[in-house]
Amino acid sequence: MRSALYTYRKCAPKAAQILLLSVTCFCSAGGLDSVINKSPKLALYFGTKTRYEEVNPFLMENPLMVTRKRDLLPNTCTPLQIVSVIRHGTRYPTKKQIQKLKKMYGLIEESASSSELVKELQSWNMWYDDWMDGQLVKKGEEDMKNLAYRLATLFPSLFTSDKFHKCKMSFTTSSKHRCVDSTKAFISGLAHTYLKLPRPNEDEPEGVSCTSPVVNDTLMRFFDHCEKFVVQVEDNDTAMHELDKFKEGPEVRRVLHKISTLLSIPEKELSADLIQVAFFTCSFELAINNVANSPWCRLFDEEDAKVMEYLNDLKQYWKRGYGFDINTRSSCNLFQHIFQHLDNAVSESRRSQQISTPVVMQFGHAETLLPLLALMGLFKDEKPLLADNFSKHLEQRFRSGRIVPYASNLVFVLYHCDFAESPREEYQVQMLLNENLLPFPHSQQSVCVFEDLKKQYNHLLNRCHVKDECQLTNVTHTSEDEL
Ligand SMILES: *[C@@H]1O[C@H](CO)[C@@H](O)[C@H](O)[C@H]1NC(C)=O
Ligand SMILES: *[C@@H]1O[C@H](CO)[C@@H](O)[C@H](O)[C@H]1NC(C)=O
Ligand SMILES: *[C@@H]1O[C@H](CO)[C@@H](O)[C@H](O)[C@H]1NC(C)=O
Ligand SMILES: *[C@@H]1O[C@H](CO)[C@@H](O)[C@H](O)[C@H]1NC(C)=O
Repeated sequence: MRSALYTYRKCAPKAAQILLLSVTCFCSAGGLDSVINKSPKLALYFGTKTRYEEVNPFLMENPLMVTRKRDLLPNTCTPLQIVSVIRHGTRYPTKKQIQKLKKMYGLIEESASSSELVKELQSWNMWYDDWMDGQLVKKGEEDMKNLAYRLATLFPSLFTSDKFHKCKMSFTTSSKHRCVDSTKAFISGLAHTYLKLPRPNEDEPEGVSCTSPVVNDTLMRFFDHCEKFVVQVEDNDTAMHELDKFKEGPEVRRVLHKISTLLSIPEKELSADLIQVAFFTCSFELAINNVANSPWCRLFDEEDAKVMEYLNDLKQYWKRGYGFDINTRSSCNLFQHIFQHLDNAVSESRRSQQISTPVVMQFGHAETLLPLLALMGLFKDEKPLLADNFSKHLEQRFRSGRIVPYASNLVFVLYHCDFAESPREEYQVQMLLNENLLPFPHSQQSVCVFEDLKKQYNHLLNRCHVKDECQLTNVTHTSEDEL
């Protein structure tokens, strides 16, 4: 158990390392072992199916605990606005995953092995059903309610009931059920758990309130709306070349062979995808039902889990991350949208006006967050992730389980600072990822003057037009015609 934590500490990205240091004292006072015991070793390798508690383990003890306060900008600076992009909470498997699981389960049911593990798997209740199709689970609602409570606790001057009632908070969401439900749960956690507002009378008709989620897929599911991405990456059979190569490579073969033996299922009946769904089932049982010792987990040891994690990360890297430029460029709109909010707030503040939208909450997917983070140059490794590089995996920055677990959240905080002698530095920005300060990639500092940040990202703010980026046909030509 201790070695698992050690690996985590050594390999976690910087922000997570800082967090771990900051909670160590809490843990040793409150019983380090009890915290770790609740987190099975494999749970650190679930990639995008990782529980939020894995990146902030103290939340297992107390889901409403806030540890950050002291390193946010103090005294002379006041938060003016937060703009956030939040991944939905814990969810059911998708229909596609459930169908693969049914197939895998079917193979196990037919196995003639009389081993303890096979018997346990055979008597395991296959409770996943097609209707669940990726919807938010109860735990996912809790993820969002608790996150709302903690963010509000972190920025009490922004999350006031006055601002809530006066429609100064905006809630945008992807159209997917799990995101709409996440948004509603977040609003509910804010209104009832944090602000302690009375629940609306059931008899009253539920009018469209200003705190209702607004669906905007152009913004939150930009990847669906980018033709170039769809053609060159999403629907392109050869784009996932490195992933396919890894699936056929020695590491995955070894795991496949081992599981084939464990289950007495011929290797040719199994595939990397089926092995992966078995691993995901281990993760779902933990994340959804809090079952830590599911028989599905016993198919894998820690070494196997690392292989499964790399399989997931390779896919995220090539489909959502640095693999292809269009993956990240397609998120330019969202990036610019965030900066428009910050710009507006700065203008309003300069004119001594009230900030019209001090709280901007946007709910989407891991597929929304990863391209955005990569667009900004975060978690970038010097070399691309390749099928051959499994051995380097644990040293890599791009590990989706550390970056985008369920309920992961990227928060921009805009501050107004009172430095009479240096008016240029009045407006400053901090970023939080999963409630931990995220250093800016260009400076490695955790705070940046707003105008400097805009200069740093000038190429994205002024020279990235999604319409052109996502167009398949040659746009240079068109603009020449227009001249
Ligand atoms: C979605 O947001 C973008 C950016 O703010 C905006 O231009 C667009 O009109 C919005 N779409 C809908 C359907 O509200
Ligand atoms: C598919 O991906 C490969 C590898 O990146 C690329 O060479 C090819 O041009 C892509 N095909 C299309 C239709 O974009
Ligand atoms: C990945 O492997 C290739 C070939 O084996 C090697 O050239 C490259 O340097 C490796 N990349 C990393 C990040 O280690
Ligand atoms: C676009 O068209 C111009 C002129 O026809 C050509 O020189 C250029 O290579 C084309 N660019 C792309 C990306 O196809």
